[in-house]
Amino acid sequence: MNQDNLSELKKAAAVFAVNFIRSGMSVGLGTGSTAIYAIEEIAQRLNDGTLTDLVCIPSSEETKLNALSRNIPVYGFDRVTRIDINIDGADEVDNEGNLIKGGGGALLREKVLAQNCGRNIVIIDETKLSENLGEKWHLPVEVLPFCWQAEASYIEALGAKVVLRINEDKETFVTDQQNFILDCNFGIISNPEELSRMLEHRAGIVENGLFINTTNDIVTGKPGGIDHKQIKR
Ligand code: 5RP
Repeated sequence: MNQDNLSELKKAAAVFAVNFIRSGMSVGLGTGSTAIYAIEEIAQRLNDGTLTDLVCIPSSEETKLNALSRNIPVYGFDRVTRIDINIDGADEVDNEGNLIKGGGGALLREKVLAQNCGRNIVIIDETKLSENLGEKWHLPVEVLPFCWQAEASYIEALGAKVVLRINEDKETFVTDQQNFILDCNFGIISNPEELSRMLEHRAGIVENGLFINTTNDIVTGKPGGIDHKQIKR
């Protein structure tokens, strides 16, 4: 599938998800090339008056700037502590609606939004679907810079090949929280819950990109139309 077709699928999924937003709601804005289509659509509806009085909370500095450039007012958790609807993309999605996220490096704030929302809508194109997590994507793990080597060797001992993420300028990628990202190739992750627990209990690891039981809706753009799957949580 070429990039144009893929973009069409992402956009269709994003527009479908934005249809669930009502005026006055608090809305989590995701990060990435799919989430941008949702931001674009929200901006358009605020602009033409179809939607009013939204309280939008961005999941990254990149998304914040993007939203502001489209005249979407953005807020933080000082304004609302509960988000009505969160709309975000994902790198990989399994049959149960568990995700790998963090391709854009925003996993920590994205997870905070996901765990503080009433309805979490994940928007993807069909290439993101997998039987098992880890088939297509390495697991991003956010770590404190001062001990990244120690965390890398802990994760290697769990069975992964670990690479420190670098940016386009070949420098170490730094997250919005000034941390580093380790991209960890575990191969197929047969027990995502257990792996997530092993990573959560380790000082120096700030967050991992496994999103377990955080999804309410998966909206998948497919060539034949939208597939909307609701997950019981
Ligand atoms: C950023 C993310 C993104 O949601 C994920 O990488 C998907 O991005 P895209 O929509 O560009 O494929 O987790 O941290």
